[in-house]
Parts: sequence; structure tokens; C-alpha cells
Amino acid sequence: MDKFVIRGGNPLLGTIRVSGAKNSALPCMAAAILTDDEVILENIPQVRDIETQRKLLVSMGAEVELGYGRAQHRTTISCRLLSDPVAKYEIVKTMRASSLVLGPLIARTGLARVAMPGGCAIGGRPIDLHIKALEQMGAIIVQQHGYLEARAQRLKGAHLIFDKITVTGTEDLLMAAVLAEGDTLMENCAREPEVTDLATLLVAMGARIEGAGTSTIRVKGVETLHGARHRINPDRIEAGTFLVAGVITGGDLCVANCNPAHLSSVIDKLEECGARIDTLSEDSIRVRSEGNLRSADISTEEYPGFPTDMQAQYMALLTQAEGSSVVKENIFENRFMHVQELVRMGANIKLDGRTATVRGKTPLSAAAVMCSDLRASASLVLAALVADGESILDRVYHMDRGYERIEEKLRGVGAQIRRMGNVFNSRRETVEVEN
Ligand code: UD1
Repeated sequence: MDKFVIRGGNPLLGTIRVSGAKNSALPCMAAAILTDDEVILENIPQVRDIETQRKLLVSMGAEVELGYGRAQHRTTISCRLLSDPVAKYEIVKTMRASSLVLGPLIARTGLARVAMPGGCAIGGRPIDLHIKALEQMGAIIVQQHGYLEARAQRLKGAHLIFDKITVTGTEDLLMAAVLAEGDTLMENCAREPEVTDLATLLVAMGARIEGAGTSTIRVKGVETLHGARHRINPDRIEAGTFLVAGVITGGDLCVANCNPAHLSSVIDKLEECGARIDTLSEDSIRVRSEGNLRSADISTEEYPGFPTDMQAQYMALLTQAEGSSVVKENIFENRFMHVQELVRMGANIKLDGRTATVRGKTPLSAAAVMCSDLRASASLVLAALVADGESILDRVYHMDRGYERIEEKLRGVGAQIRRMGNVFNSRRETVEVEN
């Protein structure tokens, strides 16, 4: 298993580039199920979850070319033949977002068998809201042997009100509604930029959608969709992680190829902590800090609030801010796996249910730590960048699920970070190296 070896203490200086958003690319790849034609997606990140999504589509009979080049990361997907509309447990258990194929599979083939995702490190994460809404659209869904089997001749437009805001639930139902008979009104939808990105692709494929990016989405079902070419949004969570890296190390970093408009809540908090942030252009941000960070509370919320996917990274920063900060996690019930590891590095953090209180500033000392999930790993990388000495991060495969070659990117701006073990490579070659 790969490890990162990180020696802290260097301020990050220079320009770091953000990759395409994994959480946009995953639903956009699933959307290719909705048409016989080719769908071409550009700016696809080279991360493990994308490879898993490719495997999932291929296991159903799709042809998926995934090419990574210097200038362009692109995938071409053809779902002309979908011989086996099944999302197998072996794949679903490694990536919960696999349930995104449920809606498009029923819409396109009238049948879907999708393994039920189990619990995961950050909480229960059920898909009951997807199921309830698909049933309202006329799908007959039975659950047996760990699988959901859903059938429908043709889904029917419906008035859907989500009991709770769900990102992949909104995306799944949007993909179901575009090929349904009649109109669908979706209320209490997620407003995340990833939903808007998916809607942009669907509209390019011929779908009729209004209101994506707001909490009310209206869809007029069409008979068929055609192929399209679409460029995936930059990853706002990767960008946010780099902004924190610039601040925590007292650096001067230009975060390029991002969308500043998607980062408002994160930028506001970093400024409140004392960072200086300037939007340089429509796709780049400069972040500077000379230390002297101040505490600032956060409460995670749905977009445009502070993202739960940035909570762990922001908490690493708070360990270096003067004063007491309160972090409230409202989206997931158990998303504090990074806390114990940060404490092992010298942080002063007290947990009480969904609230963590961080008292800073405490010097961090390098340690051997364990990554438990994707964003917890990012938090530990950030802590290690300012820790005194050499930290070893185990299980960085969690990191590889969602961050493209983060060690190379960070090294490019001055971090001392190297990978030991089997380097993840999208072409599935594994090479024993230490870099
Ligand atoms: C997506 C993101 C993830 C992010 C999360 C919240 C992807 C691939 N993943 O996850 O990175 O952390 O949004 O911004 O885009 N819920 C139910 N029933 C359901 C669905 C959700 O109770 O049927 C609950 C969940 O347990 C959770 C909350 O709703 O407490 C929000 O979850 P949701 O928005 O669905 O998260 P994901 O879409 O899985």
C-alpha cells in the first residue's frame, strides 16, 4: 500500500493547477447511459473513482476510452449496447457514487439492478430518497439479495419533493426525468455546481431542463437524447484544499484553472482567519499568508454554504489559528475521522457529537498517521506540511480516489512530499517506485 512521506516547514510558492471535478465527472459519465451516441467528456481528472466508474460502465457493456494527455484528459463513452444493466456489488462497495447509474439505467433500458451501498466511514449514506422519487415516477423497485431491482416501461413525469437535500439524489433523478414521459417538477434540489455541470451536459444532449443550480428544477421529458461533447468544471474541493495549503504554510500561491465563483464560502472563511486572497482572473486565485492566523467557526451546509468536503482540511488550518474555533458538521453524522490523527500530531481538539472545538495555535509534530477517507487524508497532508519533522501517511489510496497526483502538484510549489510504494496509474500498470 502506498504511503506519503512529508517533511513539514516549507512555505508553498508558485502556481498550482486544479484538475476537473471528480464529483461532476462521475454523474456526467453516468449520463452517457442515456443515449446510443458517443458522449465525449473533457477535463476528466485522473483519479481512482473515475477508473471505477469506467469499470462499472464497461461491466454493463459500454465502450469507454479513457485517455490522459498533457493538455487534455478526455473520455469517450459509447453506451450503444448495454447488455448487462447491473451495478455489481464488487464495484459499488468501492464507490458509493455508483448508485448514480440507477436513474439513467431505468430511463434508458427499463431495468436496473444496482447493489445496495453499505455504510461507509463517514456515516450511513442511504439512497432511500432516490428510491422514493423513482417509485413516484412509476418504477417498481424490489430489494433482494443485497440488490435493488428497478423496472419501468417508461418513467412518468412527477412532482418530486426531496425530504432532504441530496446531491447525487438530485443528479440521479434529473437523469431519470429527462427521458420520462411528461413533465417533472423537482423541489428542494441540491444547488451544487456539480448538478449544474450535469444539467449543462444533459441540455447539450437534447434534454429540456430549467432551474438547475436552484432548488426547483423543471424537466420536460423527451423521447431520445443524442451525443455531446462537454468540458467538466474545475474541482472546487481540490482548489479549496490548495488554498488552505497556501495559508497553512504561510505561502504565496496562485491556484490556477479554478472557478472562484464556486469557492465564495471557503474564501470568506480563509479571509476571516487572516489570509489575503485576490481573484486574479476568472480562473485563478492568489492566496497569501504570513502566519498570525485567527480562529473562525464553521458550520457545514449545502451549497452555497461551507462544504462538508472542506471541513477536514479547514480543521487542520484551525490548529494553526490563535484562539478557539467551533466546527459543526451538519451533513454527515460521523465525519470526524481525521480528529484523532490530528490530535496525535499535537492538535487540541475536543469532540462532542457533531461539534468539534479546536484550540490553537498548537505546534504540530510529525507522526505516522492513517488516512481513513478521502477528505480526512487531505487534512492530514495539510497538517504534515507544517509539522515539525517527517510524517508518514498510510493508506493514501483514499487520497488517490479524488486527488490527481497531489504529491507531484505540491512538490511543484515547494512541498517536501514523496510517495512510497505502488504508484497508482490509470492504465493499471503498477510500478514499484519511490519518488
Ligand atoms: C455528494 C458528494 C460528496 C459530498 C456530499 C455532500 C458526490 C459523488 N459525492 O455525496 O462528496 O460530501 O454530496 O455535499 O457527488 N441522504 C439520505 N438519503 C438519501 C440520500 C442522502 O438520507 O437517499 C442523506 C445522507 O446520508 C447525508 C445527506 O443526505 O446525510 C447528504 O447526502 P448527499 O448529498 O446525498 O451526499 P452524496 O450525494 O452521497
